[in-house]
Amino acid sequence: MTKAVYDGNPQHMKAARDGIPQYIREIDAYVPGKPVEEVERELGIRAIKLASNENPLGPSPMGVEAAKRALAEANRYPDGGSYYLREALAKLLDVPRTNIVVGGGSTELIHVAASVLLGPGESAVTSEGSFPLYYIATEKMGAKLIAVPLKDYKFDLDAMAHAIEPETKLIYVANPNNPTGTVFDADAFAEFLAKVPERVLVVLDEAYYEYVAMANYSRSLELVREGRNIFVLRTFSKVYGLAGMRIGYGIGPAELLTEIDKIRLPIPVSGAAQAAALAALDDFEHVRRSIEVNRDGLAQLEKGLREMGVKFVPSVTNFILVEVGEGADALAEEMLKLGVIVRPMAWMGFPKAIRVSVGTAEENDAFLRALGQLQTGSATANSGERVRS
Ligand SMILES: Cc1ncc(COP(=O)(O)O)c(C=O)c1O
Repeated sequence: MTKAVYDGNPQHMKAARDGIPQYIREIDAYVPGKPVEEVERELGIRAIKLASNENPLGPSPMGVEAAKRALAEANRYPDGGSYYLREALAKLLDVPRTNIVVGGGSTELIHVAASVLLGPGESAVTSEGSFPLYYIATEKMGAKLIAVPLKDYKFDLDAMAHAIEPETKLIYVANPNNPTGTVFDADAFAEFLAKVPERVLVVLDEAYYEYVAMANYSRSLELVREGRNIFVLRTFSKVYGLAGMRIGYGIGPAELLTEIDKIRLPIPVSGAAQAAALAALDDFEHVRRSIEVNRDGLAQLEKGLREMGVKFVPSVTNFILVEVGEGADALAEEMLKLGVIVRPMAWMGFPKAIRVSVGTAEENDAFLRALGQLQTGSATANSGERVRS
């Protein structure tokens, strides 16, 4: 039996594919940042990764200790409802526990929002030039994706409100947006919400919330407390440095979360991840340093880019969209050979840009040096430090 499926016969492989709905086969796959080990293995040089908007200081030390302790219980299934973490978040955010859901990264919650609301004949509204998982989550449900163009690298909230159809069930907005690093303020969002029918769920993705220093940035939790049909997403992957643990959370109407609980995996988050997140919430020193290093790193990168005369989109997050011009994807490829992993952006709709995550001061320097070398044509292939001779 097994042989009939796995014998490599093209007819059998076609049969496996033909059972899959056309709307799934048409999805453009998500392209993750290249892992450091892959680049080091393939190119034989030491590499630094500035490609996935991770925390360059490492994980919260308190989170790591708690995760280690939790591993002693790894023979047991953990609490599928993340009770203690939701309790702690409820206190911190001043929102009832029944309005909080914990997920395997906020990306899981992007998906479950689509799973619970969308189907063929329905639609979701979002923006072009935003987080590709919004597109994938919509398309995997066989629903129509309505993506409104950006305006000067920012969400065009007015055009998004106008794009809502009678069939629209869901709107995805990222604030700040990835990959542009741009933001809208709480007043602009209130104006937008006033134009959105109550029946449409607004998923407000605040993955980079903790980095934003702008006044009047967000009143998202007030909106949840007021009972608006809004689902706010946050994550432990960024400022808490726990991207590898896969844990995030959502704050929204209890009625929505009850339905979500019925259709998602019963135990989506490991015990170690729950323990790490719970401890990381109290790791004020790590959070403080992460925000500080990011603020300084953003300034360092922006100064360096300005000095080189390279165009970029001013950012409030932990990454910058850099407009390097024609051949941006090739430039990212050349940077790899210099041991610096950045993200080419053509696949996200910016053919002339790369996205660089804010690293430590040394990593930011290495990026600026590599970019400078490539811009002046002075780079030599494999001038990065060699791992193996
Ligand atoms: C806008 C946005 N939302 C969500 C995420 C993913 O977060 P998580 O690691 O919590 O799944 C990212 C990660 O890069 C992001 O940029």
